[in-house]
Amino acid sequence: MERFIIKDFEPAFISDAEKILKEEYSAEKKKVPSLPEESPAGLLNWLSTKKYKKAAFCAGRLVGYMMFADVWDGFFGLCKGSFSPLGGSAVSFELGAEREKVMSLLFEGISNEMVRDGIYSLALARFAHDTEANNSLILNGFGIRCSDAMTKIKSILEFSMPAKFEFKEVPFGSFGIFKNLKMKLVHHLENGPVFFPSDLSDFDQWFEDDSKRWFGAFCKEEPVGFISCKKGDGENYLCGNIHNICGMYVNEEYRKDGVGRALVSCLSKILEKEGAEFLGVDYETLNPTALRFWTKFFSPYTYSFHRRIDERIVHFLK
Ligand SMILES: CC(C)(COP(=O)(O)OP(=O)(O)OC[C@H]1O[C@@H](n2cnc3c(N)ncnc32)[C@H](O)[C@@H]1OP(=O)(O)O)[C@@H](O)C(=O)NCCC(=O)NCCS
Repeated sequence: MERFIIKDFEPAFISDAEKILKEEYSAEKKKVPSLPEESPAGLLNWLSTKKYKKAAFCAGRLVGYMMFADVWDGFFGLCKGSFSPLGGSAVSFELGAEREKVMSLLFEGISNEMVRDGIYSLALARFAHDTEANNSLILNGFGIRCSDAMTKIKSILEFSMPAKFEFKEVPFGSFGIFKNLKMKLVHHLENGPVFFPSDLSDFDQWFEDDSKRWFGAFCKEEPVGFISCKKGDGENYLCGNIHNICGMYVNEEYRKDGVGRALVSCLSKILEKEGAEFLGVDYETLNPTALRFWTKFFSPYTYSFHRRIDERIVHFLK
C-alpha cells in the first residue's frame, strides 16, 4: 500500500499546514538572512476556499499540501491557467528525501483535476533554496521564469552617479517624462530571450499612480534611466512593510557605465534616511540583464515555476 495518501485539502488542516510552511520559511531565512521575520502563512485561509487544493498524509499526519488560486484566461498563452502563490505549497522536512516524491504526488493529484477542467498553464512560486522539493517540479516538466529577491538596505554599497549624470526624484505629476524609457523597457521584454507581452491599454495610467515614486538619471536634463519603487506593493511576496522596486531601465548607449548601480545605491540612501529597512525586487529570470544585475545586490528567495501542458490531451483524457 502507498505510504502517502493524497486527498482534498480541508480548512481543518490549516494549522498543521501553517507549521509545515513556517518550517519551509525558516529554512529559506537561514539561506537568505535578509528576509523579514513575517512568513506568508496568512494566505492559507484564503487558498482553502479555492477549488484546486490537495493534502498529503502519511500515517494519519499532514505532511504536505498544494493549493492554487483563481483561474484566468490568457495565462502565459492562449489558454486558461492558474497560480499557486508562495506558501500555496509546502512539504514537511520530516520526510527527508521523500519530500521530492510527495511534491510530485501532490502535483499529480491536483493537475489531474485541473487539466480535466481545461487549465493548461500552471505556475507555482516556491522558496528559491528548496532544491529538493523544487527539483521535483523541474522533473515534472516545469521551468523557472521569475524570482523575488530581497536585501537589507544598509548592506547596499555606495556608488555615486558617473560624472556627467545627475540623480533626481521626480514629483508626482511629472512621471510622464519617463514614458519613452518605460516603452523601451516594454520592448526590451517583448524581444528575445524574454518574449513577454505587455497589455498597453493602461500604459498612460502607469504614470498617474501616486503610490509609486520615480527617480531618474539625467544627462543635461534629459532622462537616460529610471528606477521606480513602491511601499507594500503586491509585486513582492513579503510586501507588508517593504519597499519594492517596480521597474528599472537605462538607455542602451549608457549601459555598463555604472548608471544602474548608482540608481539603486542613490535610491537606497534616500530610503535608508526615511527609516526603511528592506528593499525587494521581482524580475524575470528569463531576462539576462535583470538576472545578472539584481543578483549582485539582492538575494533571490522565490522562484516561480511554470508548466504549459499540451492541450491536445483533451482528446485522450477519460
Ligand atoms: C539592468 C540595467 C538597468 C543595468 O543598467 P547598467 O547601467 O548597465 O548597470 P551597471 O553599469 O551599473 O551594471 C551593473 C552590473 O550589471 C551587469 N550587467 C548589466 N548588463 C548586463 C548584461 N547585458 N549581461 C550581463 N550582465 C550585465 C554587469 O555585470 C554589471 O556589473 P559589472 O560592472 O560588475 O560587470 C540595464 O541593463 C537595462 O536597462 N536593461 C534592460 C532593462 C531591464 O532588464 N531592466 C530590469 C527589469 S526589472
